[in-house]
Amino acid sequence: MGYSGNIVEEIKSRCNIVDVIGRTVSLKKMGINHKGLCPFHNEKTPSFIVSEERQHFTCYGCGATGDVIEFVQRYHNLDFFGAVERLAGEYGIDLEKSGYAGEGKKERLYEINREAAAYFYKVFTENKNPGRDYMEKRGFTTSTLRKFGIGYADPEWHSLYEYLTAKGVEKEHLLALGLISESKGKLYDKYRNRVMFPIINTRGKVIGFGGRAIGDDTPKYLNSQESSVFLKKNNLYGLNLTRQEINKEDCAILVEGYIDVMSLYHHGVRNVAASLGTALTENQAAMLKRYTSNIVLSYDADSAGQAATLRGMDILYNAGCKVRVLHQEECKDPDEYIKKNGKEAFLDLVKVAKPFAEYKLDLLRDNSNISTTEGRVNYLKAAAKILKALSPIEADAYVRKIAAETRISEGAIRQEIFGRQNADVIEREQQQKTFTEKKLQSVAKGHGTPIERNLIKLMLVKSDYVPKLEPYVDAFKDPDCFHIYQIIRNLYLPDEEIDTRRIFDSLLEEEAITLKDIMENVQLADKDSHVFEDCIDRIKGSAKNRRMNEIIEMLSVLDEEKDGTAVVALTKELQELQREKNRGEII
Ligand code: GTP
Ligand code: MN
Repeated sequence: MGYSGNIVEEIKSRCNIVDVIGRTVSLKKMGINHKGLCPFHNEKTPSFIVSEERQHFTCYGCGATGDVIEFVQRYHNLDFFGAVERLAGEYGIDLEKSGYAGEGKKERLYEINREAAAYFYKVFTENKNPGRDYMEKRGFTTSTLRKFGIGYADPEWHSLYEYLTAKGVEKEHLLALGLISESKGKLYDKYRNRVMFPIINTRGKVIGFGGRAIGDDTPKYLNSQESSVFLKKNNLYGLNLTRQEINKEDCAILVEGYIDVMSLYHHGVRNVAASLGTALTENQAAMLKRYTSNIVLSYDADSAGQAATLRGMDILYNAGCKVRVLHQEECKDPDEYIKKNGKEAFLDLVKVAKPFAEYKLDLLRDNSNISTTEGRVNYLKAAAKILKALSPIEADAYVRKIAAETRISEGAIRQEIFGRQNADVIEREQQQKTFTEKKLQSVAKGHGTPIERNLIKLMLVKSDYVPKLEPYVDAFKDPDCFHIYQIIRNLYLPDEEIDTRRIFDSLLEEEAITLKDIMENVQLADKDSHVFEDCIDRIKGSAKNRRMNEIIEMLSVLDEEKDGTAVVALTKELQELQREKNRGEII
């Protein structure tokens, strides 16, 4: 272990397998492959095939197979590192530049980092110093500070340098680790007057440091440069302390900063780790995946945090994680939130964190102008792209939501997402629905279904209907009608009729047209109490009809063997609904 993926890629791309094997085995070109006598068993007729295209060898005689590194390992009887070093030497590849160091050398570097961390820690704890004052002011207790091994680099230019060289540490190593810097031939400590956060990997090795300025010095954070022992893309801050808890909770909360990790940990939320201000990488996602596939992103509330959230969630989703996004109201980051509101309040936010598709759709909607046709269509197209990545069942819940928001039919939306075939089925349902609704329809101008329009009319006729409608607000799917309803509800006072002029004051132009149209053209077809009851029956009925369609759709995609109990339950529910419908209880 202890090599980076890119060194393997580098070796493979620079050392052509036909070349490497051709040096020791005589190969003949046969079609697109090369053929020769297998060096791994005794044979008279060649059954050893090397594919240049796939950079791979296979022997059909003895079954030996592998890539260029595996060939060298086996042929020269070397371990992985030996083979890598041999190939790199032969092809002039600079291993250190590629982020690789022999294991022995790496151990030495870890050891030096550990010495440095111990030194910073000692300075931090032994005497009063600005670093400790700062961290205490930020609310951290001795036990949390100890847990994270927090240290302090004093303001002098040579403290660490002198301390470590006196112990025999080579300056080349200090430079490679970024603990000291060189300028005009002079060496000096890189970290001065900073709070030091050692970054420790899950094997307990100190791989690097973050140094925070005290007060407003810049840069705010000075982080270790990449080195053979510090590959940012392969590590998450805090995971060394939190992975058991992540595993136990089956959930990881991902934050941006050192302080966020410490702060959540300090308040008792211990399933946390940080990506340290860089974009989340596939390697980091794969690391988390070892402990859980449920990730809650809790990044800073600024636009940088939002951008990082969007990038991070795709990487996590593609790695097979379930991603949700936490939203902290009025606080810039999770540290500030938990300090102000406490552990329970933070955990409540975790509970209601939005599934990533919902987060994306909401963001998209907020940035679209869905009051224009063009805006609606663009929104739909972009939304379809988001939903395409989901399974049909996951996507379905959002289809209904988008349909309600855009007044575009569910069928058209499904078609945009899934293509023609699925859309057809839905289209038919849609037509049936509009047919029954047409029978009811009194007027065609303005927006809203007949039910919505009748309900608004009823509230205007008798304000008593406003509180009576409360349980059925879901019936207002049309955005104009819903807005009109909201305004009416806000204006409502018991035993007073609604002042329609005041409704108009709060409406947009198009909404006002709808309201005017309802007031002038909707005639209640019966006594108002009967119309009201009829509407309520229809609302309940259409919810049930929707549910029936939903069940039929689910049953068509569920696997009876794998989802047995769900299939049984859904079938039972469907039968029950169909019985009600046959009895004429559902309209
Ligand atoms: P506080 O602001 O002290 O609460 O710390 P924080 O950890 O919340 O930091 P912030 O939200 O500003 O940044 C998140 C992470 O991005 C930090 O933990 C660092 O890893 C990284 N970061 C922030 N500022 C800098 C910087 O100036 N340089 C570098 N290289 N990284 C930074
Ligand atoms: Mn922050």
